[in-house]
Amino acid sequence: MNDKLGLPVGTTLDRFIMRKQEDFPFATGELSQLLRDIALAAKIVNREINRAGLLDVTGAYGQQNVQGEDQQKLDVIANIRFIRALRNGGEVCTIISEEEDDAIQTGNTRGKYIVAIDPLDGSSNIDVNVSIGTIFSIYRRTSEQGCDGTMADCLQPGVNQVGAGYIIYGSSTMLVYTTGNGVNGFTYDPTLGEFFLSHPNICTPKTGKIYSINEGTYNFFPEGVKQYVQYCKDNEYSARYIGSLVGDFHRNLLKGGIYIYPSTSKVPKGKLRLMYECNALAFIVEQAGGKATNGSERIMELVPTELHQRCPLFIGSPEMVDKAEEFLKAEVAVN
Ligand code: AHG
Ligand code: MN
Ligand code: MN
Repeated sequence: MNDKLGLPVGTTLDRFIMRKQEDFPFATGELSQLLRDIALAAKIVNREINRAGLLDVTGAYGQQNVQGEDQQKLDVIANIRFIRALRNGGEVCTIISEEEDDAIQTGNTRGKYIVAIDPLDGSSNIDVNVSIGTIFSIYRRTSEQGCDGTMADCLQPGVNQVGAGYIIYGSSTMLVYTTGNGVNGFTYDPTLGEFFLSHPNICTPKTGKIYSINEGTYNFFPEGVKQYVQYCKDNEYSARYIGSLVGDFHRNLLKGGIYIYPSTSKVPKGKLRLMYECNALAFIVEQAGGKATNGSERIMELVPTELHQRCPLFIGSPEMVDKAEEFLKAEVAVN
């Protein structure tokens, strides 16, 4: 018999989560269940995204979120799906979401966990069939169980994350996550309705040849960023920018590269959100051997002061992030 035909189908996400849990004899299984809840919501959102052109779910919803951005219908749908799954699951006491003004209390006051989520990342790409994603962070509450989560529970620095991940709805749908012991990627098989381990122990290359930045806003970049971009061109790096952070990040994680969303004279704090985007990807990239900073400080050590706080992001292969920071430091030294 051909050996290849005898290969096992592969490890499902559920089995993988279960095995990991067995490594911790005192684990209660709540974090495992939470991850399963997220995976379930991801399957549902994936189904809606795949049929987006056929159902009436593309286009603008007609309202803005708290950050003044036009919500797309799928932003709102994904937000509802994830919140519903987390509420039904019971492990989460409080959710903070890019699409919600305030923290959402699930009513599960015994829940140990807080989830921060960007339900749909890359909204501008929804209607044009380009990769989009979901990003999430998981924190353990610091307040006593038995009541709602507090603002202090929600505003924890990234170093306190106990888990983080993203789902990329791309040429295939993948879920990539870490619980602080490496990064693993799972590919969704829609015919079986299961995620299978396809990218075990993801390690990002120390350096790469891809830089991802919205160069259309070059005129507003700080001098150090302009010089780093010039350095990338001088070294014939490839420019790749989808405009979906998850998509750009995922590609660079696997191939090696740097993603930059700097502060600009138009958006002095950058565009990306510390709690919903930067912290989760910073945790993942560090677990894969990469680096994430705001240009000078480690993202995960930033102490948040508000839910929807923005921050500049330099993330990817460690040697590339170091190089970009050198240019920023030189700029500071000149001024
Ligand atoms: P979101 O759709 O969650 O609001 O995030 C959009 C973000 C991010 O995905 C992307 O990298 C960035 O916005 C693109 O911004 P520009 O169009 O300014 O480059
Ligand atoms: Mn986003
Ligand atoms: Mn979003």
